[in-house]
Amino acid sequence: MNPPATGPQHVDIEALSATLDPQDPRGTVARALALFPGETLISFSGAEDVALIDMAAKSGSPYRVFTLDTGRLHPETLEFMELVRKRYQVGIEAAFPQPEAVLVLVREKGLFSFYADGHEECCRIRKVEPLRRMLAGAGAYITGQRQDQSPATRAAIPLVQEDPGFSTDPATPLIKFNPLAQWTSAQVWDYIREYDVPYNALHDRGFQSIGCAPCTRATNPGEHERAGRWSWEEATQKECGLHAMNVPGGGSKSVV
Ligand code: ADX
Ligand code: SF4
Repeated sequence: MNPPATGPQHVDIEALSATLDPQDPRGTVARALALFPGETLISFSGAEDVALIDMAAKSGSPYRVFTLDTGRLHPETLEFMELVRKRYQVGIEAAFPQPEAVLVLVREKGLFSFYADGHEECCRIRKVEPLRRMLAGAGAYITGQRQDQSPATRAAIPLVQEDPGFSTDPATPLIKFNPLAQWTSAQVWDYIREYDVPYNALHDRGFQSIGCAPCTRATNPGEHERAGRWSWEEATQKECGLHAMNVPGGGSKSVV
């Protein structure tokens, strides 16, 4: 039986972190789900972080999955999400951007403003604000971030951290788990193959890291996966606000 929810304010992040094994993401997922039964959400982008859903399904604990449907995802990503929904018999909760905000952005700047202005404004409307709504009232959430995804911004991401940026109430910090933080891309793909986990068809066409269609490209052999994201921007700028705490000034208390 799951332990009763203790409430986010009672979690000692350092003590919790000390009990987690960086090489056992299944264990971290299980702990995250048990900590706030029914209040821990998996943040699913339609890329290889589907491994987390497989681990959650096998944990036996209840879990919720959400995605931020920006309106600019590849059709392959949407098809993949449907595959995952059916395979794991789990409802995928989609958060959409506020129509009025999109209307104003597109009317004022068109559909591709990010190529000229940078991605921040569009990501804020299509990803960050919907994430804030999705996480309102949640105790914790789980992401598929890994340290090897981005030497410039993710080299130090911890297994668990507080996420004050998305907390509804500053007195009850939201807990963010990154169970794959110290797994490599190769380990994730070994897991996907070993357990026959479904994956996005774009991965077979040279896409490593997958985000919105206009901001993602396939990578060339030898290129780092992050090179395929917002490829017109500097590596240090390649955080869209979902993980703002990864960049200096983003701010958060965290434990490695
Ligand atoms: S991003 O911030 O640059 O877009 P990335 O694609 O590397 O993030 O994915 C890292 C993690 O962020 C994913 O494993 C997932 O947990 C979360 N994430 C990214 N995009 C989305 C999305 N559209 N919906 C839900 N979660 C997402
Ligand atoms: Fe907009 Fe590109 Fe950000 Fe998607 S990744 S929300 S299309 S700027």
